[in-house]
Amino acid sequence: MDFKLFLSTFLLFSGVAWAACPGDLPNGTLVPLYFGFMTAVDPHSDYVLAGIIPAVDLALELINNNTSILSGYELSYNDTIYDAQVSYSSAAPMLSDVSLYPSFFRTYPSDGNFVPAFVGLVRGLGWKRVFILTEESPLFVQNERPLVEALSEAGIYGKSHSFLSGPDVDVAEVVRDVIYKNEHNNTHIFFLNMYSGKARAAFCAFYRLNMFYPNYAFIIPGWYQTGWWNNDAVNVSCSTRDLQTQLDRVLILQQLPVALNRSAPTISGLTADEFDTRYRSRLNDREYINRLPGPPSVYYPIPDALTAFDALWSLALGLDRVQRAVCANETLGCNGGPLTELEDFMYYNDQVECMVNKSLSMTGFEGVSNTRVHYQ
Ligand SMILES: *[C@@H]1O[C@H](CO)[C@@H](O)[C@H](O)[C@H]1NC(C)=O
Ligand SMILES: *[C@@H]1O[C@H](CO)[C@@H](O)[C@H](O)[C@H]1NC(C)=O
Ligand SMILES: *[C@@H]1O[C@H](CO)[C@@H](O)[C@H](O)[C@H]1NC(C)=O
Ligand SMILES: *[C@@H]1O[C@H](CO)[C@@H](O)[C@H](O)[C@H]1NC(C)=O
Ligand SMILES: *[C@@H]1O[C@H](CO)[C@@H](O)[C@H](O)[C@H]1NC(C)=O
Ligand SMILES: *[C@@H]1O[C@H](CO)[C@@H](O)[C@H](O)[C@H]1NC(C)=O
Ligand SMILES: *[C@@H]1O[C@H](CO)[C@@H](O)[C@H](O)[C@H]1NC(C)=O
Ligand SMILES: *[C@@H]1O[C@H](CO)[C@@H](O)[C@H](O)[C@H]1NC(C)=O
Ligand SMILES: *[C@@H]1O[C@H](CO)[C@@H](O)[C@H](O)[C@H]1NC(C)=O
Repeated sequence: MDFKLFLSTFLLFSGVAWAACPGDLPNGTLVPLYFGFMTAVDPHSDYVLAGIIPAVDLALELINNNTSILSGYELSYNDTIYDAQVSYSSAAPMLSDVSLYPSFFRTYPSDGNFVPAFVGLVRGLGWKRVFILTEESPLFVQNERPLVEALSEAGIYGKSHSFLSGPDVDVAEVVRDVIYKNEHNNTHIFFLNMYSGKARAAFCAFYRLNMFYPNYAFIIPGWYQTGWWNNDAVNVSCSTRDLQTQLDRVLILQQLPVALNRSAPTISGLTADEFDTRYRSRLNDREYINRLPGPPSVYYPIPDALTAFDALWSLALGLDRVQRAVCANETLGCNGGPLTELEDFMYYNDQVECMVNKSLSMTGFEGVSNTRVHYQ
């Protein structure tokens, strides 16, 4: 279920006077090309994504070493935002500040497989009715309608209720309302479509209502942090023991980005197995980890590292296509004005934005995650 905003890239060019076209640059000169990305390194955040940093670093090294991609440029990040809580809604206003980030493109993998997988699971278990409780954050809201529709198409009764996100929301009250007013229509299967903080509060409320296995079943996203139910950033009236009782039988659903053939080379030159080895060796390199932000405890392997690694390759290949087009005086079918040099990334520019957008949407390849990263 990799629909988190796990990697947000916004591109910034350094203020150079030329585009790096073959023959233009003195030998050995590299034009720095910066992008930013956001990730959560605070151990108390809803979703700690620090584990993608070593994968991003590995991708950059491979890309910058490869003379057939973005030749003349050196891709790197420097303005990295280490957000406490990775949330599209909290990040968006900042990223929308055009003066700070004149041109940015966000990447996140498609969650397209999630809805059919969910419906397949429910159907496979022979369940006929599902109630979906959704936290109103774009991450979860985007699933809500497709889920209800897909369930209904499969002949399964699906109903949903959403509640506001934010620290002041009393999730226990939301749960009690849904139950007391029978909004759930006596449904016994619940999908908690929410961050772990809210899920912790919801589970406590269900516990207090004596609603647990085997009379009730719960499904949650699989990407919550290890031991998430102990995270006391959200206070609840349940002990750890209560919560563990409640959570004893819970289904977690996660889409794992795994290459089908682990010994076939990917675009990076590495096979999925080789990637895994090199990724883990970075995670075990204390000296390297200590230089990164956040406590060393947040650096553990996560599935998102695979998609982050592939996303970096998409970005590099997409920009490479734009660079080649600009150098060849081609527009990739964009008619946003005269063809501009790449360095005009410094300014808000429709033509370059259109070309990058086009180019990224044309990018597809075999990656370690076996996914094609979709762009918006
Ligand atoms: C990041 O890159 C920008 C653009 O070149 C530069 O102005 C800025 O100083 C860099 N920041 C850091 C922390 O290196
Ligand atoms: C740059 O390198 C290429 C081949 O590596 C060589 O043919 C060319 O003469 C060099 N140009 C300069 C200006 O050194
Ligand atoms: C990149 O090239 C350098 C120099 O050839 C090499 O030391 C380094 O290991 C390479 N990096 C990767 C990730 O292959
Ligand atoms: C409750 O579920 C039944 C089917 O199990 C359905 O006929 C009825 O319309 C539902 N009621 C509401 C209010 O959705
Ligand atoms: C949760 O409760 C503990 C102990 O009662 C308190 O120290 C802590 O500040 C509370 N946290 C929040 C987020 O309210
Ligand atoms: C996996 O890839 C390797 C290397 O390309 C190839 O030899 C092997 O036949 C592939 N296995 C399958 C099951 O396709
Ligand atoms: C360099 O990148 C290209 C993709 O543009 C890829 O086909 C090739 O395998 C890479 N080369 C190496 C040595 O990794
Ligand atoms: C680039 O193409 C445009 C038309 O698409 C043409 O007017 C212009 O002269 C070309 N520039 C160069 C340097 O070839
Ligand atoms: C980028 O492409 C998508 C469709 O692929 C389109 O919906 C979007 O408006 C485009 N954005 C820009 C800035 O051109």
